[in-house]
Amino acid sequence: MITIEVNGKPIEAKPGEMLLTSLRRAGIHVPTLCHMEGLFPSGACRMCVVEVEGRPSLMPSCAFPVVPGLKVKTHSPRATDARRTIIELLLANHPDDCNFCVRNTDCELQRLAAELGIRQRVYMGAKNDYKMDVSSPSIVRDPNKCILCGKCVRVCEEVQGVSAIDFTARGSRTIVGTAFNEGLNVSSCINCGQCVVVCPTGALRERSSISNVVAALEDPKKMVVVQHAPAVSVTLGELLGIKPGKDIMGLMTAAFRALGFNRVFDTSFTADLTIMEEGSELVQRLTQGGVVPMFTSCSPGWIKFIEQFYPEYLPNVSTCKSPQQMMGAVVKSFFAQREGVDPRDIYSVSVMPCTAKKFEATRPEMSRNGVPDIDAVLTTRELAQLIRMRGIDVNSLEPEDADTPFGERSSAGKIFGASGGVMEAALRSAYFLITGKELENLKITPVRGLKGVKEARVKVGDLELGVAVVNGLMNTRRLLDSLKAGRNDLHFIEVMTCPGGCIGGGGQPLGAVQDNVKARMRALYQIDRDAALRTSHHNASVKRLYEEFLGHPLSHKSHELLHTHYAPREVLW
Ligand code: SF4
Ligand code: SF4
Ligand code: SF4
Ligand code: FES
Repeated sequence: MITIEVNGKPIEAKPGEMLLTSLRRAGIHVPTLCHMEGLFPSGACRMCVVEVEGRPSLMPSCAFPVVPGLKVKTHSPRATDARRTIIELLLANHPDDCNFCVRNTDCELQRLAAELGIRQRVYMGAKNDYKMDVSSPSIVRDPNKCILCGKCVRVCEEVQGVSAIDFTARGSRTIVGTAFNEGLNVSSCINCGQCVVVCPTGALRERSSISNVVAALEDPKKMVVVQHAPAVSVTLGELLGIKPGKDIMGLMTAAFRALGFNRVFDTSFTADLTIMEEGSELVQRLTQGGVVPMFTSCSPGWIKFIEQFYPEYLPNVSTCKSPQQMMGAVVKSFFAQREGVDPRDIYSVSVMPCTAKKFEATRPEMSRNGVPDIDAVLTTRELAQLIRMRGIDVNSLEPEDADTPFGERSSAGKIFGASGGVMEAALRSAYFLITGKELENLKITPVRGLKGVKEARVKVGDLELGVAVVNGLMNTRRLLDSLKAGRNDLHFIEVMTCPGGCIGGGGQPLGAVQDNVKARMRALYQIDRDAALRTSHHNASVKRLYEEFLGHPLSHKSHELLHTHYAPREVLW
């Protein structure tokens, strides 16, 4: 460590690190707009400028490496004037739309204008009149609110390896757009929502389904059923003023009932069901000479990615539908039959940490006889908004349990919410399916954690399996390219579209605060540590579903309801 001087006081810094990192570690707030943790600085916005002794110009702290003897002023009149001018210029042609904007009270531009004391329009610019892009089932783009910080472009290219959006045109006509300026729906966008999470303004947002869900809840003819993904209960609290990483499963279930949902089911139940189907499929592929490595199939952004960029690997993708879609399918078949309800009278809602799930629910493969398995998908953010809209104080509720027959879960199904969770759950059950014995140590440490790529070799009976876990599709791209180049030591690969898995999904709280993502992950593993039921194959409700309805894993009925196939997809890019 070295010592540098900031605002007349010494602070510790690591030689060579960017000044912004040292400032943040010391608790000194310098505003940023284009900075992205973990990515190379772009220096695009200049909001982070500071005065550095001996330098005639202001320096962007996000791109300025510290050196011994450095003397810095972060909030000198010159630095704050420069920041104020940047925001005043950004506001010159910005729509006067705050009251109607999805980001009102949670907008970086608004917050910085307030922080810098901007209370009148200084520069008058002609307002833009770009068309909104509402073509995607997942994402809405409003280029009029874009401040060209470039974060969406960078996350799409550098984290997701997709490059569906980029800067187009030049000078004052520059906007962020798609190839040929067509709608996102025909672009290579995989609907991951990572651009929404990093966007500082209302230029990008999820396509909201709140009004559809409210209409269904008010329709007396509808039985409204809700399921919630494993990551939601350890995240929702953050949006309702509860500390990050607190599991509020019971309170959330009570909130669903207070909102008027007729049944509350847990997607972790169908995560267990997925493990039974996917684990059996893996065993079948391994023992009967099927295509390996097998890829997991529960992350819909990844599925669209492989359809459009690596279609030659589609035979490697598990035929299992995602847990969301499996739940949708059994709700409108087994459950509808059991309750004596016409599936058309069931309105099936899922709450997901994910925007790509909205796209997945609309896929033609995901409906039967014209009836979609899932009618509406809400993100974690939308659920919080709905709870606030209805004036529900979750802290005043008593915790409640989910409903039968799809309310029981193992903690293996619950850890699906973190990168590595599907792999760990699958290995616990694959071991049992192959050897007939329980895995001695259920905790498979090498596949846990937030690293983008994790690998392990696991002994299962006489087999030694090579397994890999990847999150973020740029990491996945690299792994696929290594397979293309001849790598052949892997048997099973878990792919999660979003960094860290569902806990870092595109439907989660805005800003992607890494400490909060870690807290969500810790909460999931704490649930696993404390659970009595830790393996999917011992979930009694899953066993009952097989006995009463499906028969056995990979049965004809399972294939009809729980499996599907994907095909190569043409997109504009
Ligand atoms: S993006 Fe922010 S500043 Fe712009 S209208 Fe929305 S809330 Fe207001
Ligand atoms: S949703 Fe994902 S793939 Fe689509 S533009 Fe945003 S970051 Fe890119
Ligand atoms: S859409 Fe949002 S993230 Fe992308 S450049 Fe514009 S303001 Fe930045
Ligand atoms: S945050 Fe440093 S230049 Fe944008």
